[in-house]
Amino acid sequence: MKTALITGSGRQAGLGFEVAKQLGAQGYQIIIAARQSAQVTERVAELKDLGFQAHGVVLDLTDENSISQAVNAVQQWDSKLDVLVNNAAVFGDFTSVLETDIKNVEAAFNTNFLGTWQVTQKFYALLANADTARIVNVSSGAGSFADPVYGILNGSMGMPVSTYALTKLAINGLTVKMAKEFSQDNVLVNAVCPDVVNTSGNDTGFGRPVGEGAKSVVWAATLPDDGPTGGFYRDGQPLPW
Ligand SMILES: NC(=O)c1ccc[n+]([C@@H]2O[C@H](COP(=O)([O-])OP(=O)(O)OC[C@H]3O[C@@H](n4cnc5c(N)ncnc54)[C@H](OP(=O)(O)O)[C@@H]3O)[C@@H](O)[C@H]2O)c1
Repeated sequence: MKTALITGSGRQAGLGFEVAKQLGAQGYQIIIAARQSAQVTERVAELKDLGFQAHGVVLDLTDENSISQAVNAVQQWDSKLDVLVNNAAVFGDFTSVLETDIKNVEAAFNTNFLGTWQVTQKFYALLANADTARIVNVSSGAGSFADPVYGILNGSMGMPVSTYALTKLAINGLTVKMAKEFSQDNVLVNAVCPDVVNTSGNDTGFGRPVGEGAKSVVWAATLPDDGPTGGFYRDGQPLPW
């Protein structure tokens, strides 16, 4: 059985939990990873109710110890990890360069960029133990230069500057570096933008249904062995960087 771990999959209405459900439906053993233990317990129970094989770990991207403990826990259930979805992120400030509080920039980079990097480092040995593995870095068109709607050069949806966008720009660069380095172990690494997705849990009329956004991520998590690596995609289509 293949095993997939999804970070930040504790919120019921979030993209991460939807990815977990879609991978569970494809027969993957799911590891819910979230920083709130109550969420972990609830989401694992929901996956089991759906008939899926599921476990959970408390994992805070900003806490090295919790990542190491999560790696140890996962080793009880499988000697390898087939899929790592780096989904957890914070949205940070949407203020001008001058007004943005640098402490908030630091916090956003600690989670979205350094946290993702460190989670990948620590789970890498398990990923390399799989015959072939997939890493999906959940990114955003906001981190692209060229995305015509959300991109940095094209207005970022009218935001003055977005710390969030800059963390995703960094994630896109890291994706390329990971892909090059990890190809020796047959680990495919891609960045995916799920598009604007309604993960509020309410019918806001803004953003597409979470199931559709999650499909974009699941596509990259279930690529064939000869699939692409080092790319940036939405709905299976390449996005400009
Ligand atoms: N929604 C969109 O329109 C959209 C568009 C493009 C890209 N994305 C990306 O999609 C991913 C999921 O977004 P979402 O909309 O589903 O938002 P979300 O529900 O807020 O999911 C993000 C999750 O990350 C978790 N998280 C934050 N900091 C963490 C930390 N230090 N350690 C562990 N977990 C942490 C949050 O945990 P808590 O529940 O404990 O706060 C939350 O459950 C993100 O990477 C986001 O950038 C979303």
